[in-house]
Amino acid sequence: MSNTAKLIQEMQTYYHHRAALYDVSMGYDQPETVMQLTPVIERLRQLVTDKKVLEIACGPCFWTQQIYDCTHSILATDFNQSVLNQAAMKKLSSDKVQMQQADAYQLDGVPSNFEVALAIDWLSHVPKTRLQGFLKNLHRHVQGMVIFCDQLPGPQSQTDTFDEEGNHLQQRTLPDSSSYTVIKHFFCNQEINSIFTPFTPQIAIERFPQTRRLLIHYPLIAAENLS
Ligand SMILES: C[S@@+](CC[C@H](N)C(=O)[O-])C[C@H]1O[C@@H](n2cnc3c(N)ncnc32)[C@H](O)[C@@H]1O
Repeated sequence: MSNTAKLIQEMQTYYHHRAALYDVSMGYDQPETVMQLTPVIERLRQLVTDKKVLEIACGPCFWTQQIYDCTHSILATDFNQSVLNQAAMKKLSSDKVQMQQADAYQLDGVPSNFEVALAIDWLSHVPKTRLQGFLKNLHRHVQGMVIFCDQLPGPQSQTDTFDEEGNHLQQRTLPDSSSYTVIKHFFCNQEINSIFTPFTPQIAIERFPQTRRLLIHYPLIAAENLS
């Protein structure tokens, strides 16, 4: 198995073991944290209003919970059934929110008729050599818009550790002392542009420094219309 494949697997295992702790560890159970995130949540709500949304790597569905009521519907997907089990405890209306286990790199069994694809705190985990393949496959499932929301770096975020592909690596430890290596990119505008220009000339990049969030969104342009 390649080092990249091992890292992908390690991240899946890490989030499986973090599932029950995830929301609390992110502060999502704290009203102040949710309040700080309000500008990002409001912006996301504007972008997904009345849309049929495919969410990738939804985790325990904190963000889904913040936006689902204004969408047409959301199919929330994640590799780990354990995080979907946590999400199910939120009892989001099944009229609007459906869940499905799906590997973001395959999306097997996921329909192709969505108006928006959305992923939060996911793009930063995709190995550089898998980005183009992941995006190409994702785009097959959407006609409309793609939205990624990720974190901006904090004071402790940068490790100066990179693998041979140039992926920025962090070490994460869970309360049981188990330790995992994860990829965590903090892309600059130039990197964002070079990732997405093969697919669209219209990339919007919005930063929310107060809450350390980055929003990237773009309309999907049919390949034949790209010059
Ligand atoms: C940083 S968490 C983000 C969760 C959620 N989007 C949020 O922001 O609350 C990353 C998520 O990616 C999921 N994941 C890891 N590898 C995956 C894969 N290959 N396909 C789909 N989901 C994956 C994990 O299970 C985890 O829920």
